Amino acid sequence: DWTTHNVVEEQIASIRAQVGTKRAICGLSGGVDSAVAAALVQKAIGDQLTCVYVDHGLMRKGETEQVEKDFVAATGVQLKVVDAQERFLNALAGVSDPEEKRKIIGREFIRVFEQAQAEIVAEAGAEGEDVAFLVQGTLYPDVVESGGGTGTANIKSHHNVGGLPDDIEFELVEPLRQLFKDEVRMVGQELGLPEEIVQRQPFPGPGLGIRIVGEVTKERLDLLRDADAIAREELTAAGLDRDIWQCPVVLLADVRSVGVQGDGRTYGHPIVLRPVSSEDAMTADWTRMPYDVLAKISTRITNEVADVNRVVLDVTSKPPGTIEWE
Ligand code: XMP
Repeated sequence: DWTTHNVVEEQIASIRAQVGTKRAICGLSGGVDSAVAAALVQKAIGDQLTCVYVDHGLMRKGETEQVEKDFVAATGVQLKVVDAQERFLNALAGVSDPEEKRKIIGREFIRVFEQAQAEIVAEAGAEGEDVAFLVQGTLYPDVVESGGGTGTANIKSHHNVGGLPDDIEFELVEPLRQLFKDEVRMVGQELGLPEEIVQRQPFPGPGLGIRIVGEVTKERLDLLRDADAIAREELTAAGLDRDIWQCPVVLLADVRSVGVQGDGRTYGHPIVLRPVSSEDAMTADWTRMPYDVLAKISTRITNEVADVNRVVLDVTSKPPGTIEWE
């Protein structure tokens, strides 16, 4: 019988069987999947788990603080925060190919986890542990779209599946690998996680790195962070959070168009709004959003974000478009 209660019980037993008395780390991203995976593993092995939050500089405004505060408050989990902004920016310098970006981000995540694991083991005085376990919130659709399912094309390398480096030494613990997002949310509820975490809209592990079409730089990230914060603020103010599956905000960094502002010509970048409605992210439709909300977002972004002089709406379903642009 498929009930969330049974899924939780089964996964707890299998996590205990896999990890035994050893230590595990779990990468937290701020999203639903890793939060639920972490809560499940914590329930199974308690203090043997340490969560690691990698601040890769590709996060949205306020996200890092939210993880540090909300998730720890909700679960009491042990958390290690790693500032890896320089490391990711350096690794991404000069790269604009989407798959290359995804592979670099996936690889750097693992390198940071390896370092964190070594530090955690040393701090615990547990040298000599032969296996290092890494918990990931991989879902069924991540596996399918990365080409891990049977007979499926490789669409894009999700950071925690196809984006992993070949020389990975971790043994993976992936308790959500057979679940869809709505099921993960139900498991999160069963585990007693608060609504703010369980109902959060999806956000990809590679973060804003795959929402900048072109090279990723600090300046471009700051610009996109500002535009994204405005869009989120207005969507929330309009009460649309629960109606929209997610709304990627994308910077076309390599495109410029002519505009006019005040009494001068501008030559700035477009920002794309990509609101979608979906059940499981495998297919999606573009959301018919109220025009007045779109107008407000557009006016605010062009007024408040320097170097952006145009806001466009993506009216493509999935397929043929994917939800993220890269
Ligand atoms: P696409 O762009 O493939 O996205 O239509 C489907 C869903 O997956 C999210 N996404 C990711 N999530 N790591 C993640 O954790 C990734 O590398 C990744 N790539 C896409 C995307 O936001 C959407 O919800």
